[in-house]
Amino acid sequence: MDTRRGLTKRPRPGRRCRHLLPVAVLGGGLALAGCSGGAPSALDPAGSGAGRIAGLWWLLFWISMAVFAEVMVVLAWALLARRRRDVRVRHGQPLRFVTVAGAGIPLVILVAVYAVGLRDLAALGDGPGPDAPTIEVTGHKWWWEVRVQGVAGATANELHIPVGEKVRIRLRTADVLHSFWVPQLMPKTDLIAGEVRETWLHADRPGRYRGQCAEYCGTQHAHMALLVVAEPRPDFDAWTARLAAPAPAPQTDAQRRGRDAFVQGSCAGCHAVRGTAANGRVGPDLSDVGARWSIGAGAVPNDGGHLGGWIANSQTVKPGNRMPPQPVDAGRLPDLIAYLQSLK
Ligand code: CUA
Repeated sequence: MDTRRGLTKRPRPGRRCRHLLPVAVLGGGLALAGCSGGAPSALDPAGSGAGRIAGLWWLLFWISMAVFAEVMVVLAWALLARRRRDVRVRHGQPLRFVTVAGAGIPLVILVAVYAVGLRDLAALGDGPGPDAPTIEVTGHKWWWEVRVQGVAGATANELHIPVGEKVRIRLRTADVLHSFWVPQLMPKTDLIAGEVRETWLHADRPGRYRGQCAEYCGTQHAHMALLVVAEPRPDFDAWTARLAAPAPAPQTDAQRRGRDAFVQGSCAGCHAVRGTAANGRVGPDLSDVGARWSIGAGAVPNDGGHLGGWIANSQTVKPGNRMPPQPVDAGRLPDLIAYLQSLK
């Protein structure tokens, strides 16, 4: 910079452009890095369904990169050629260039991508066989009801699948449009009122995979998460057996008092606990609530403090949910918490 005579040299436009390319590449790299940190990413697939989508994504990414590089090279050539006054364009050359680069190459790319897309679409339609386990998932504002076909019990916001097997997922909604999405396992499937939709899940390694409602369904849409636990077949069978069995009986005096408060109080009007007189159908079945990963479909962690806060006034935790504030005697609250935490 020359400031001796109060003059500032202006960078020429060509120089500025030279600095933009590294910035664009760095920005793209940071954006990609952001995709792989923390939150579940469809670019970190753990099953064959999401693997197809990730493969397609990377194919499109590298094609885009190649096209971008090609355009940059042509642009650079054009800028340099403009400075050299001796460039002669032969008759017919521009037309040939536009035909090949502007129509021919894009046509080849689009047809190839279309063919790969059709192949992946067919693979995603290749669901499990008739003997595969079927899990029925119903979307509610704002939680997921989960049942295994042929098993009486229900659970909420968590489902288990055996590793390495395709599992049929049958989807319904009890109210509005929702969308079932487990990014690391399978693309989205919408839940449409009056329809039964089907998808499947397949995990090729054990793990806990977070899912999320992917269609705006009201104020607490963001707090409509679910957890898919992929585990060895014997563990999956044990989970299914627990869904069929009555909830564990209370072991301590506090738990017994909690159970009585639950069954005789307003809780039982909306919630069920298998093996007790509580048989409500409005809210989630709580027979295994002590073992769940969260309270309120991912709203808060499942611990004593949050459970107490939820029971007393869940509207402060997840405003708009269907559970009204509960007039629970403060002395009874620890008993209720002890009982619910024992249900696992
Ligand atoms: Cu359910 Cu968004």
